[in-house]
Amino acid sequence: MRQWQGDGILFGGDYNPEQWPEQTWSEDIDLMRRAGVNLVSVGIFSWALLEPAPGRFEFGWLDRVLDLLHAGGIRVDLATATASPPPWLARLHPETLPRRADGTILWPGGRQAYCPSSPVFRERSLELVRAVAGRYAEHPAVVMWHVSNELGCHNVHCYCDVSAEAFRGWLRERYGDLDRLNAAWGTTFWSQRYGDWAEINPPRTAPTFANPTQQLDFLRFSSDEQRAQLRAERGVLATLVRQPVTTNFMIGTGVKHLDYRSWADDVDLVSNDHYLTAADPQAHLGLALAADHTRGVAGGDPWLLMEHSTSAVNWQPRNVAKLPGQLRRNSLAHVARGADGVLFFQWRASRAGAEKFHSAMVPHSGPDTKIFREVCQLGADLRALAEVRGSRVDADVAILFDWEAWWGVELDSHPSIDVQYADRLTALHRALWRAGVTADIIHPSADLGGYRLVLAPTLYLVRDADVAALHQYVEGGGTVAVTYFSGIVDENDHIRLGGYPGAFRELLGVRTEEFFPLREGEQVRLDDGSTADVWTEWLHADGAEVLASYTDGPLPGVPALTRHRVGDGAAWYVGTRLDEPATDRLVARLVDETGVRPAASAPSGVEVVRRRDDDRTWLFAINHTDAEVRLPVTGTDLLTGARCAGELTLPAGDVAVVREDRTGDPT
Ligand code: GLA
Repeated sequence: MRQWQGDGILFGGDYNPEQWPEQTWSEDIDLMRRAGVNLVSVGIFSWALLEPAPGRFEFGWLDRVLDLLHAGGIRVDLATATASPPPWLARLHPETLPRRADGTILWPGGRQAYCPSSPVFRERSLELVRAVAGRYAEHPAVVMWHVSNELGCHNVHCYCDVSAEAFRGWLRERYGDLDRLNAAWGTTFWSQRYGDWAEINPPRTAPTFANPTQQLDFLRFSSDEQRAQLRAERGVLATLVRQPVTTNFMIGTGVKHLDYRSWADDVDLVSNDHYLTAADPQAHLGLALAADHTRGVAGGDPWLLMEHSTSAVNWQPRNVAKLPGQLRRNSLAHVARGADGVLFFQWRASRAGAEKFHSAMVPHSGPDTKIFREVCQLGADLRALAEVRGSRVDADVAILFDWEAWWGVELDSHPSIDVQYADRLTALHRALWRAGVTADIIHPSADLGGYRLVLAPTLYLVRDADVAALHQYVEGGGTVAVTYFSGIVDENDHIRLGGYPGAFRELLGVRTEEFFPLREGEQVRLDDGSTADVWTEWLHADGAEVLASYTDGPLPGVPALTRHRVGDGAAWYVGTRLDEPATDRLVARLVDETGVRPAASAPSGVEVVRRRDDDRTWLFAINHTDAEVRLPVTGTDLLTGARCAGELTLPAGDVAVVREDRTGDPT
């Protein structure tokens, strides 16, 4: 992956100077310098200003902004400005507006009101990219290009006639002929057989459940259409600019419909936006998961946190503000997990518009505030961490993640609505977090060779090649743990016959003949003392050793947890939804059996992660508790310059980044 120019960790945010009078711009630059900002994203939502009428461009204000930033020593991640079309586009071309499944038109007035398959949008947007890139390719402030913004955030699924035609084109490419499509979609069911491509539509609102493979293919198509915009813009940039190109992904458990794994090769560096779920008191665990996943998408390379918030957002039901110190902990947790840049949405809080209550680096109350002071503190912290840039994160555990499995498992008409893709992923990741163990979140087709332990939560849809690779990994001495409702279907969402969990039956040495989902709130107990809910199944051990069985519920005496020795490794199956203490015990056992070590032996509530390069290691320790803690480490804390000889004392809420002494270093 290509890197950006300059040294050290990037620090800054979205800068929207067009919302402010020009006299504010010089104050902005003074404040940015005070805070240590070194990169801002400019022009993201400025299409309507840059091209006020079709083909008429006005760049004067952007020229002045970029020159001022350059003079102030602030580098620019310049947007292609295509994120949201100007109102004239819909007026001249109403056919560019997206439609919901029920036909509702999504009108301009918000943002992203365009059909992702619209050739008119594509043409106009690329013309803008050509104009912007042509003008600023050589501008000395510009070090990076920012394609669009959160592609598909609001318009990922469009069901209009233009999209329908594009969907048919995509299906022709995939299947070649209608016989193949009919077979893949299982259209002998419910009289759905297609005799002509023109009969096929996106899964628009129907009297009852739409064909599941049609739904799955539409999800694939929709992600591909968004990626096509990225590719098209990047294609134009490639002919005009030399700086690296990125676009901000939205990796996290809240954004389901964009298969970023397939997009990763279309950017020079992976960027992500992440916002805490305010309602979750453990939101920093969600942050860790998103960061580990972003690193996985980046193939383990450093990545860029393109947006997060200094405090509250404006778009959740109750927008909880960050307490003092939280901004710092959140930011440095991203760095711990592989980010080489920390940026915010946005620099200065807006006066008007739907995001005026969203926090920013400079709040409405100005710089004499907790937020701006913490921003300045963070700038100083990141300067002190410059040497960490380019290093990688240590992880001996992999969690398998596939967007297609997510899409498949949450289709309608399934055994239980309580089987949600993020559920076991989150539960296992949190158990590892609590154990101080870092996991890479990677696609099932990734190389598993370097991992001691692989977890496969709810891998409902899985490809034969990935099953074979997992088998080989276990044969060779690896350990895998698979959770319920995995291996159920192939890529067409057709059941793998012969007993569940189809694809993994042989590897796991089990065979399930029937699912027994539980009623809402119903719990079952296991003979090892665990409690579980949501899911049970009539499972037979078929070579596997039974580790725990149900003592009550619909299946007393039936195995719930098994382990199968395969070659030099072991394959565990978790046939029910264990509660948190039981999940912690399971993970502790897996970690113990596979020799996985925590980054440091840390007290509960303290996040520990290690980054390393060829000859140095850095231990990040983030104290999320209200109490001072101690943990064993020897080295120098880059944030304070203090030495720790064997033990680090970390005050409540504080962070340390210790460059660890190498054996033989003088103490
Ligand atoms: C996203 C967008 C930004 C802004 C923030 C608000 O990340 O990219 O433009 O809307 O959300 O949280």
